Amino acid sequence: MDCLERFLTFAEQAPTAFQAIALFRKELEEKGFRELREADPWLVDAGGRYYVVRNGSSLIAFTVPQSGFSAFRIAAAHSDSPAFKLKPCFEDPAEGAYIRLNVEKYGGMIMSTWLDRPLSIAGRVIVRNGDAVESRLVDLDRDTVLIPNMPIHFNRQINDGYAFNPQVDLLPLYGEAGASGKLMEEIAENAGVKKEDILSHDLFLYSRQPASVWGADDAFFSCQRIDDLECAWGAVTAFADSEGRDSVNVCAVFDNEEVGSGTKQGADSGFLYDTLTRLGFALGASDGEIRAAVAGGFMVSADNAHAVHPNHPEKYDKQNRVYMNRGIVIKHNANQKYTTDAVSDAVFSLVCEKAGVPVQHFTNRSDIPGGSTLGNISNSHVSMNTVDIGLAQLAMHSACETAGTKDPEYLISALKAFWEQELPIVK
Ligand code: CO
Repeated sequence: MDCLERFLTFAEQAPTAFQAIALFRKELEEKGFRELREADPWLVDAGGRYYVVRNGSSLIAFTVPQSGFSAFRIAAAHSDSPAFKLKPCFEDPAEGAYIRLNVEKYGGMIMSTWLDRPLSIAGRVIVRNGDAVESRLVDLDRDTVLIPNMPIHFNRQINDGYAFNPQVDLLPLYGEAGASGKLMEEIAENAGVKKEDILSHDLFLYSRQPASVWGADDAFFSCQRIDDLECAWGAVTAFADSEGRDSVNVCAVFDNEEVGSGTKQGADSGFLYDTLTRLGFALGASDGEIRAAVAGGFMVSADNAHAVHPNHPEKYDKQNRVYMNRGIVIKHNANQKYTTDAVSDAVFSLVCEKAGVPVQHFTNRSDIPGGSTLGNISNSHVSMNTVDIGLAQLAMHSACETAGTKDPEYLISALKAFWEQELPIVK
């Protein structure tokens, strides 16, 4: 299977962060990585390959060089995307005729893209198991609900711009009145438990539209969650296939970037700092040696970038604009929303040059504030030279995003080179 097919298969099987991390865990186990649990003491060997999962939705993998502890070489991406989340009590009858679901927004999606398409439900449930509680993955994986538009006859202004009210316009239809209680039964059956043993849930809607490769010369592909699964999958895939050198190589996938990263498993938590320091101490490093490994380290924050939209080229900066299928995007921002500076740009550009991967540069127009990402948030906990990169895509935060078919391979080549080769020395 070629690189793109592998990614699209992954993306279809990863409707939420929980499924994405479960797939990464499987991939790493197959490549000889062993799980370390945060609640247990760590025994770590030179030459070993390990991973740690927090909350089932964030993961940090690392490899220890044969030569022992040394500088960190880190790539990070995010596992979450905007979606609708089911509320704790989600059944919402209407008209004595319908069962709708009460949902709320997670992150900043393009709301209109969620209407009139089959949606399913996935995430996790927490179930009773004797005196314990345990997590079970759920993916109904069938056309389950749909959010219908109003007919144009009752909403003549819809094409002039319409402000969707999420509590009114965006409640999905599940069934007729007789369907009361059925969704919880479906969820329990999918989780392999009894309905009464489900104590709580984190469940999201997702689009059932299959991934597709399209256009002249198959230039483009579309699917859900390209931001940021394209970078997260590329990073984990490159990491699992890399031969480490003398650096401590680290691959981090954080949840909750789309809601500001401020959770126990987000980039604004102690997850990365805790992992790096515990690894250092497990290898017998002193506090000073761990700080030196951070100071001498390098981080790549990988989160997708905005390709010039063919219908709105005026929205993009004149010189620093990027396109699909033209390689790694290095993102810059004078106010440091992106961490890139001249040093990290130069170092990572050289890594890409050696790997034969093209590089392009992105800034926002000076009169348009851009988005933010996890690089600068992570840097406030673990501070080192960092570059913000991504792959160019269209329609970011749509339920169906579009990107370039050549780019996943470019990211894998660049990150393999980052982990396997000598980095230029910064004097
Ligand atoms: Co993103």
